[in-house]
Amino acid sequence: MADKKAQLIIEGAAPIDLPVYSGTLGPDVVDVRGLTGEGYFTFDPGFMATSSCESKITYIDGDKGILLHRGYPIEQLAEKADFLETCYLLLNGELPTDAEKAEFVSTINNHTMVHEQLKNFFNGFRRDAHPMAIMCGVVGALSAFYHDSLDINDHKHRQISAIRLIAKMPTLAAMVYKYSLGQPLMYPRNDLSYSENFLHMMFNSPCEEKKVNPVLAKAMDRIFVLHADHEQNASTSTVRLTGSSGANPFACIAAGIAALWGPAHGGANEAVLNMLDEIGDVSNIEKYLAKAKDKNDPFKLMGFGHRVYKNFDPRAKVMKQTCDEVLAELGINDPQLELAMKLEEIARNDPYFKERNLYPNVDFYSGIILKAIGIPTSIFTVIFATGRTPGWIAHWNEMISGPYKIGRPRQLYTGPTQRDYPTNK
Ligand code: SDX
Repeated sequence: MADKKAQLIIEGAAPIDLPVYSGTLGPDVVDVRGLTGEGYFTFDPGFMATSSCESKITYIDGDKGILLHRGYPIEQLAEKADFLETCYLLLNGELPTDAEKAEFVSTINNHTMVHEQLKNFFNGFRRDAHPMAIMCGVVGALSAFYHDSLDINDHKHRQISAIRLIAKMPTLAAMVYKYSLGQPLMYPRNDLSYSENFLHMMFNSPCEEKKVNPVLAKAMDRIFVLHADHEQNASTSTVRLTGSSGANPFACIAAGIAALWGPAHGGANEAVLNMLDEIGDVSNIEKYLAKAKDKNDPFKLMGFGHRVYKNFDPRAKVMKQTCDEVLAELGINDPQLELAMKLEEIARNDPYFKERNLYPNVDFYSGIILKAIGIPTSIFTVIFATGRTPGWIAHWNEMISGPYKIGRPRQLYTGPTQRDYPTNK
């Protein structure tokens, strides 16, 4: 039911009435679906002002730097909830009771192993294959092992697929790392928490099982929480669009992983560390800021700027606090952190960045913590994908469990008008 009306007046044409809807938070939306019948399309490359769907999962106020998951501020979830609790919240809309959480954790624990034959897929990759290339392949391939539960119209099939994906992503992520080292792939353990289990599979081996440092496990869990969801970002929109064709959830998440890989999106965390390596020293900061401001130079300040946040990304603030805690706990004095902080200070006081409201985003400090935990730069975006899996699934499930249409944008065509094939050819 429309809350208000808009009227589109196009020269030489009768006014077109368009319904306007209000959400619980955020800007009103103009329903433009009726324009097709009036012979018009909207035009919005990059979807700067386009709502692709109605959603109840996550809300972002970019001007105020607010991020809510099912109404709960990210700062509170990062401090008080763990990752599996956040997963439950995203999937079900409410925080779990103690009993619900215990059951959810147990269910996840019992789905962390992957089919033994999936290991064979790794052997087709070079040892130095980019970990995201492998993740795209093996996550899509998971659907080949679950023909019994791929009916997307069956709520129970959607539920078990969600559990399998959340449970298996850390196992696959650790397998990718171990494969790159030529070390034996580690099995998950049901007696460890989600993030402890991940670090166990990453850094233990059949020859030696060291106890996972609880500070690192807590930091890892918080990093997963900070990446869990983020509204209709590029990879989540990819998952929704893929899901709108009726593709199975494993294929949809593999599509999301592929979209996340780009350096403008989830690949930025890896790009930030590479950028800090390239800058090398505080004395080079001004030179690189000049490159970032030069329209003829493709260099951008990785980890800075955001389509929605025109204020501090609230996740970046929590990430920086976590960074300080982890480095202090480990007694690490990381020169790259010093360089990153100086870069942030200088950039934040530079008119170019101030005028464009360019602030550090979630990726600016995450790499420094991941490096301190011992995770190699090439695995950073795999960590992002693991954390974002519950968000991708929650959006996919929200779409599939209600009425939806296949996503099929239109275009402004400016190519050749109709012409005939030359008779003299
Ligand atoms: C993520 O959408 C999400 O929610 C994503 C995410 C999530 O959780 O899913 O938050 C995760 O992807 C975070 C962003 C990670 N990417 C980076 O850190 C890469 C560096 N950032 C830029 O590529 C850029 O800021 C984007 C891609 C993030 C946003 O690009 P927009 O919204 O299209 O903004 P824009 O490119 O139109 O920028 C506006 C202006 C431009 O200058 P003018 O044309 O106005 O002169 O700001 C400039 C841009 O050139 N600009 C930058 C810049 N970011 C924007 N200039 C230098 N360095 C930068 N980082």
